[in-house]
Amino acid sequence: MTTSSFQRAQETVEYLRLKLPQQLARPRVAVVCGSGLGGLSETVKGSVREEWDYKDVPNFPLSTVPGHEGKLIFSTMGDQQVPVVLLVGRAHFYEGHNLEAVTFATRMCRVLGVQIMISTNAAGGLNPDYRVGDIVCLNDHLNLAGLAGFHPLRGPNDDEFGVRFPPLSDAYDIALRQLAHRAWQDLRRQAPSQRRMREGVYAFVAGPSYETRAECRMLRQLGADLVGMSTVPEIIVARHGGMKVLAFSLVTNNAVLEPTIRADDPKLQGLSREELEAYLGRGRADHLEVLEAGKQAAVDMQGLVLRIVSEL
Ligand code: 6GU
Repeated sequence: MTTSSFQRAQETVEYLRLKLPQQLARPRVAVVCGSGLGGLSETVKGSVREEWDYKDVPNFPLSTVPGHEGKLIFSTMGDQQVPVVLLVGRAHFYEGHNLEAVTFATRMCRVLGVQIMISTNAAGGLNPDYRVGDIVCLNDHLNLAGLAGFHPLRGPNDDEFGVRFPPLSDAYDIALRQLAHRAWQDLRRQAPSQRRMREGVYAFVAGPSYETRAECRMLRQLGADLVGMSTVPEIIVARHGGMKVLAFSLVTNNAVLEPTIRADDPKLQGLSREELEAYLGRGRADHLEVLEAGKQAAVDMQGLVLRIVSEL
């Protein structure tokens, strides 16, 4: 007999609860830490804490990207000791996982009884107003892979999670977003910084290559403010299961919106190989740059998430 993802999620939860103390067994909030944002796990200073490597959790897919440690942490956050589960690192579609594996941790959160999922990721900025280091609170998404047929809810509906045709017009909870903006302003008043918070639309692409110039322009014309390779399948599964969702992107680089470079451009005639390379390399997306921006912003992001969880 084949098992459903609901049954597998139950199996995982049963396994974890064998070891979880009573006060951690039903976390209200899940926090997903994206690329280079694993530092968020240092905000959980609760005196009780249980931790697993993903490789030791039954049914969990393994993440293969440097900067994604792959850890499941149960602890409490803030003065009120809100029980939380942290997912440090996630499985990505581009690694070759199917969308069921990509969203398994989300389903497990639902079976654990999580009501609110706070998701973070690193993304490329397409909105010309954005700067590297901005934190963007997502207000909508373009599920490009989904529209093309790679959708996490494709297949027989699992009624134990939710309905066949879930709405997503209210996927990004407005009250949570308002709380996020207030929390950000409060934090800025206490400790002024250059970093800004914006809102925007996230375009989910499969990756793993970064976008061409033409693709960046296309995504911008379609209404995207950001582009990235994660989060959206998890958000859809979270909404299907009735969880409230809050998601943040850290802008780690600006996607190139300038025209594609033409080999017959008179400006480029007679340039050396090195000069051409320098010209072409401007704005090229780079994984190390993405990780570096994450390190610096992680501290601010940690403060923000901690404040939000404390005020839930
Ligand atoms: Cl520019 N593109 C995609 N697809 N993902 C990213 C990114 C860009 N920057 C960070 N993650």
